[in-house]
Amino acid sequence: MCGMTTISTLGSHCALQVLKGAKDEGFDTLLVCEKKRERLYRRFSFIDDLVLVDSFKEILEPKTRSRLKERQAVIIPHGTLISQMDSSQIESLDVPIFGNKWILRWESDRNMKEKLMVESSLHIPRSLASPSDIVGLVIAKRHGAAGGKGYFLATSKSDYEEKRDKLIVQGIIKGDADLYLQEYAFGVSAYLQYFYSPLDDKLEFFGVDRRYESDIDGLGRIPSKEQIGIDKIPSFNVVGNSPLVLRESLLDEVYSMGERFVEAARRLVSPGMNGPFCLEGVYDENAKFTTFEFSSRIVAGTNLYVEGSPYSAFLYNEPMSMGRRIAREIKNAEKEGRLQQVVT
Ligand SMILES: Nc1ncnc2c1ncn2[C@@H]1O[C@H](COP(=O)(O)OP(=O)(O)O)[C@@H](O)[C@H]1O
Ligand SMILES: [Mg+2]
Repeated sequence: MCGMTTISTLGSHCALQVLKGAKDEGFDTLLVCEKKRERLYRRFSFIDDLVLVDSFKEILEPKTRSRLKERQAVIIPHGTLISQMDSSQIESLDVPIFGNKWILRWESDRNMKEKLMVESSLHIPRSLASPSDIVGLVIAKRHGAAGGKGYFLATSKSDYEEKRDKLIVQGIIKGDADLYLQEYAFGVSAYLQYFYSPLDDKLEFFGVDRRYESDIDGLGRIPSKEQIGIDKIPSFNVVGNSPLVLRESLLDEVYSMGERFVEAARRLVSPGMNGPFCLEGVYDENAKFTTFEFSSRIVAGTNLYVEGSPYSAFLYNEPMSMGRRIAREIKNAEKEGRLQQVVT
């Protein structure tokens, strides 16, 4: 057992990887688990305890919080935390959260997100202030970590309005305010996974994945003749991830983009981009990267590399998943009496 800290997370997204990594580093583990998933998570011996809830929102209730505090839990935030709670609810949690909980608001709000990417001098797609500005191909995206559900492509204002109205009828959005319009970036998608440690001021590039998003990634199987006859609006709902390695000549720029992001976050959102994050974008025909968004916490694409990735293998002589790297950081911080520096 490491110190008295228990590593805890919500039962979804990358919980298995996170708690397996915590156990490998010698921590006690605790899962906040919805009752409907109890049977699934009981299968894994590295999960020491479950706190059963009807909904993840119960984490905000005094009863759940005191159970977590009793165990000296540190919560590892992931996409489910962000999609199930709004930013002020997350910020109000008095259980320590690994990394910087204040930056999660910058992830959820697409306008703040854009500001941080601009501050990082990343090459980003143009955003559109109004549907009347649509020329060429644009993507309409929802705020928060909606996971691509209800996102759509449009080529004109009327095309946009027709699709928007369908989503309103389906109850997925309320109106224009729920959508952020961004130029579509052409190329090959890549999701760059990083870890930044404030303990030794070091950035590690951990891996890269691609996402399989339904329906958009299934369209290639349908010949154009049939595609034209289909009325369905394809969405970008992520279903899974597959691995990728980059041309080695791209790595230097991968590191500088990550470093610029860390520096910008330090300026705008104290205490900065501590822990795992991801820059998401596409490489164009000149292998130039356009970042269409970021995640300021662990991404599910790291689930590919439970035994380490082609990049973590260059940094560690042992299998190092992102989940394990997080636990290692907490362990190192505890050893040096600096736990407060890696949580908020
Ligand atoms: N500007 C863009 N150009 C091309 N594809 C995009 C763009 N923005 C988003 N996408 C696609 O939509 C998906 C979801 O968008 P993203 O901004 O990552 O939102 P989320 O927060 O839901 O992950 C991406 O994984 C990618 O496939
Ligand atoms: Mg994304």
